Amino acid sequence: MTEPSKTATLTLDGQSIDLPIHSPSAGPDVVDIRKLYGGAGVFTYDPGFTSTASCRSTITFIDGDKGELLHRGYPIDQLASKSHYLEVCYLLLYGELPTATQLEDFESRVTNHTMLHEQMQYFFRGFRRDAHPMAILVGVVGAMSAFYHDSTDINDPWQREVASIRLIAKMPTIAAWAYKYHLGQPFVYPRNDLDYASNFLRMCFAVPAEEYVVDPILSRAMDRIFTLHADHEQNASTSTVRLASSSGANPFACIAAGIACLWGPAHGGANQACLEMLKEIGTVDKIPEFIARAKDKNDPFRLMGFGHRVYKNFDPRATVMKQSADEVLDLLGVEDNPILQVAKELEKQALEDPYFADKKLFPNVDFYSGIILEAMGFPTSMFTPIFALSRTVGWISQWKEQLSDPEHKIGRPRQLYVGETLRDYVDIENR
Ligand code: SDX
Repeated sequence: MTEPSKTATLTLDGQSIDLPIHSPSAGPDVVDIRKLYGGAGVFTYDPGFTSTASCRSTITFIDGDKGELLHRGYPIDQLASKSHYLEVCYLLLYGELPTATQLEDFESRVTNHTMLHEQMQYFFRGFRRDAHPMAILVGVVGAMSAFYHDSTDINDPWQREVASIRLIAKMPTIAAWAYKYHLGQPFVYPRNDLDYASNFLRMCFAVPAEEYVVDPILSRAMDRIFTLHADHEQNASTSTVRLASSSGANPFACIAAGIACLWGPAHGGANQACLEMLKEIGTVDKIPEFIARAKDKNDPFRLMGFGHRVYKNFDPRATVMKQSADEVLDLLGVEDNPILQVAKELEKQALEDPYFADKKLFPNVDFYSGIILEAMGFPTSMFTPIFALSRTVGWISQWKEQLSDPEHKIGRPRQLYVGETLRDYVDIENR
């Protein structure tokens, strides 16, 4: 760790303690409080970690005020327009953009690991047909540790690499098979002559009864959605993966934990909740009613797809997603999609409303993604599995980074205890 550039002094009950301050390559300084409890006998208190840096990282940087998102220093809008998902995966995993040879080798390794062990089909068949695909993803990914024992030793760099490739390669197959199982249609096997996004679309939409030709417009839009969701600093699901990994859990268990956390409507589940909200609004004239509900402190309703813990400006991914929504819907001939019209008018009215402006609540990555995914033919239940598929590389990159961090240790936060103090047991006849 770089030598502290300066110190902060905390004075408590007449005692002072100097806390080192570390300066980042970008973003705010951090006060190193590791010696606070030992030195001053106090904890810090930060539910939701609004002011807490949990780790050091070199992978993704977010400037919430500027609405900036960098992956290894490269801005997301440039990656979305100039790169493609597997190249972004390489960048996140290894830190640099690949040469042509490196990219070809990486894509070949991923392509040749897209099949699942044939026995894993029986996990899918154990679920009800109406099981939410996220429930299937959590189960099947966790079960991968029962099939791929030769890549569960986290202390073996080679096994970490194999587990990384297997997870990135197999997640589209698992997500597509969860969808097929829900439909009652046969599983479609991956094909090595298709690119990552085309392979996923074919596994979702092909049926044995006819040839499936991948629409290049859809595969480009799909690939861009994967890229826009790839990683996002220490969000809730990534922090879950890091915390699970800190106990030494195997990579498949850690990613299953991340999937479970992502499912929540406050996090990755927001894309499904947002489209359901837009459909509930239905028409532009109903928007004021829903904005009023979102502002009403006594109403738990929130505008899904709006607001963010870090972005206090536009989420740059939402900006790219909005452009993509216009392009994809036009190219698909889904003219004047009423839901897209409601979304654009809702965004306009919300951003003109002092409540949202004052609280710096802007559309986030989930606001427009569902509109594109629905236009592509996916049911809302598949939105979050697609987010999980995309984010697997981010979880894996952060997991690998933590394991190679000499400072990492098991995560074990403390608490502000406000419960009963010591008291004796009372026999039941005396209660
Ligand atoms: C993702 O962290 C990441 O990076 C996540 C993510 C990623 O890529 O990994 O970016 C993906 O999860 C995007 C967020 C998707 N979630 C939603 O769209 C759900 C709706 N949004 C919110 O629930 C909320 O904005 C959060 C959860 C996203 C952020 O919550 P915070 O930072 O804890 O903020 P908060 O709940 O303390 O809200 C601050 C104020 C509150 O009002 P006051 O109590 O101060 O009066 O803003 C209000 C909130 O009531 N508010 C909203 C609102 N979001 C916040 N009011 C109406 N509608 C909303 N959407």
